[in-house]
Parts: sequence; C-alpha cells; structure tokens
Amino acid sequence: MNDETLIAAAKDARLRAHAPYSNFQVGAALECADGTVFTGCNVENISYGLTICAERVAFGSAVAAGHRSFRRIAVVADTTQPITPCGACRQVMAEFCDELTVVSANYRGEVFRAELSELLPRAKAGILDK
Ligand code: THU
Repeated sequence: MNDETLIAAAKDARLRAHAPYSNFQVGAALECADGTVFTGCNVENISYGLTICAERVAFGSAVAAGHRSFRRIAVVADTTQPITPCGACRQVMAEFCDELTVVSANYRGEVFRAELSELLPRAKAGILDK
C-alpha cells in the first residue's frame, strides 16, 4: 500500500471524529506488519482531558485485535501544515515500535514523512531500568 492509500483511509476515519469541543477533526490509519490497517479518529469528551487522539484510537483497536507489530501510521487533519502526533501519542507508539514511519498529511496535498525515533528520541531509555 502506498502513502496515498493510507492517507485516504485516515481521511475516511476522520469523517467519524467526535470533536464537538475543538471542532478539529483528526483521522489516523495504522498499517500493521502484516499489512492490515486499523483506523482511528479523535474522540473528545466534555471533561476535555479524557479526549483520545486519533492515533491512540488506531493503536488501541489494532492491539485489541491482537496486533503488536507496526510499519507506518498516516495522520490527517485540515491544517496549514501537515499534522504531527502529540507527545502522548508518540510515547504510546514507542511502546510498540522501535521503528515506525509517521506520514503526516493535510488537505492541501502536503505530506511530511518522519521516523518515530526522530519525533521522540530515547523514548524508553532508562525507564524501569530497561
Ligand atoms: N488530536 C489528535 O487526534 N491527534 C493529534 O495528532 C493532535 C490532536 C486531537 C485531540 C483533540 O480532540 C483535538 O485534536 C485538538 O487538540
């Protein structure tokens, strides 16, 4: 699957975002090592802090379905520059991925590709003495 196809899946998921507070809809599509794709959208809550980002919804769905190994995630929002995952999501990604390509996109056709290790260096170094 190419980046464009994964971004299209993220755009489709974004249509289901529950974002009545920020009115900022985000979609994500996570490609597993076996090629399976799980999607997510942001799910906001009236108690703001309970909001879950699109990326974490995608990871939760994939993990709940038994996947532990991932290749790439596409994230899309209607932004002036391609959206990159928040710090909390980066740490959740690092839980499962030593290597993961993050494909950030917007609706202007702009794409920014980065490795998770660039976005969050030394994600787990020293924690629990591991
Ligand atoms: N959000 C995501 O879903 N993913 C990101 O990468 C950044 C932010 C959501 C959380 C909240 O619902 C809204 O976007 C505004 O921060």
